[in-house]
Amino acid sequence: MPMKIIITKDFDDMSATASEIVVDDIKQFQKTKQKKDNYILGLATGNTPTGLYKKLAKAANSNEFDPEAIVSFNLDEYIGLPGDTSSERVLHPESYAFFMVQELFGLLNKKFKKSYVPAGTEIDLNKLLAELDKYKNDSSVYEFIGSDAGKQILIKPNGPSDYLNYINKEILDAYMDKIKKFGGIDLHIVGVGGRGHLAFHECGIPLDREALLVKLDDNTVGNAVVDGHFKEEIFAPKYAISMGAKAIYRAKTVLLVANGKRKSESIAASLLGDVTDKVPISMGQEYAKNGGNMIYVIEKEAASGLLNKFDELKRKGFEVVNKL
Ligand code: GLP
Repeated sequence: MPMKIIITKDFDDMSATASEIVVDDIKQFQKTKQKKDNYILGLATGNTPTGLYKKLAKAANSNEFDPEAIVSFNLDEYIGLPGDTSSERVLHPESYAFFMVQELFGLLNKKFKKSYVPAGTEIDLNKLLAELDKYKNDSSVYEFIGSDAGKQILIKPNGPSDYLNYINKEILDAYMDKIKKFGGIDLHIVGVGGRGHLAFHECGIPLDREALLVKLDDNTVGNAVVDGHFKEEIFAPKYAISMGAKAIYRAKTVLLVANGKRKSESIAASLLGDVTDKVPISMGQEYAKNGGNMIYVIEKEAASGLLNKFDELKRKGFEVVNKL
């Protein structure tokens, strides 16, 4: 399917355009499918989709579609938010679970049938760090994978650490299994992180990854402070769990939303350059070539590296809609 790139005027236009795509897809699904079928919606956090979520909630509340036949899955969650227990951590205002309640779930009059956020808040950071330290010289237990600053912590199956095995099976594999049990994701909304990462699939982590335990890139931690989520870097989480690119690009549609100048370079590289793990969102090109429905809805600042490149984009077979 040709990749579609829609360049929008500003944040509102981006939010309205993206919301229309999501609402239309849900309506289409709910019109043709059996009553018992659920629409599986993939969700992202970050400032970018907040306008889209408000519009989506408005459409749900005015009965444009049935929210009670929707099951949602989020991309990622922090490990190491303050709090001694998982319930304290999940209620931390910067947890992604809390964000979802504030920005979308709490706005719905009728709730989604089910909503899942990866269980990063279940993980006790101190226990994790103790296990990583204990086996730090044993690559048969775990390994850091990735060529860049952020890394996947690849836990080897059935090793000697019960805690690492628990994370691998009960948290990472279990999340993937749940998505599979619901038949996979119909449409996944994704944002763009610093240097073109996707969810917490950091730059340099191989693209063929499903669920990830991640040590975050310094750039990601820095942006969380710059964006006002944490006062200083010492308070910002350094670890997370995330869906990996391979799992994300299995959805029937991937809808990428991006705004702001910070993202312009990686947006341009992801479309004009080759597919590379240096820019994880570049995997969208391969996904589209293999039949995936890849849609970019980007605001003009984020699109600034593309504005004089429309011919090149079209030569690559992309469909460009310029709303400027
Ligand atoms: C974090 C999240 C990503 C998100 C990114 C951008 O890295 N894990 O899923 O896309 O932030 O956030 P924002 O939309 O605030 O720019």
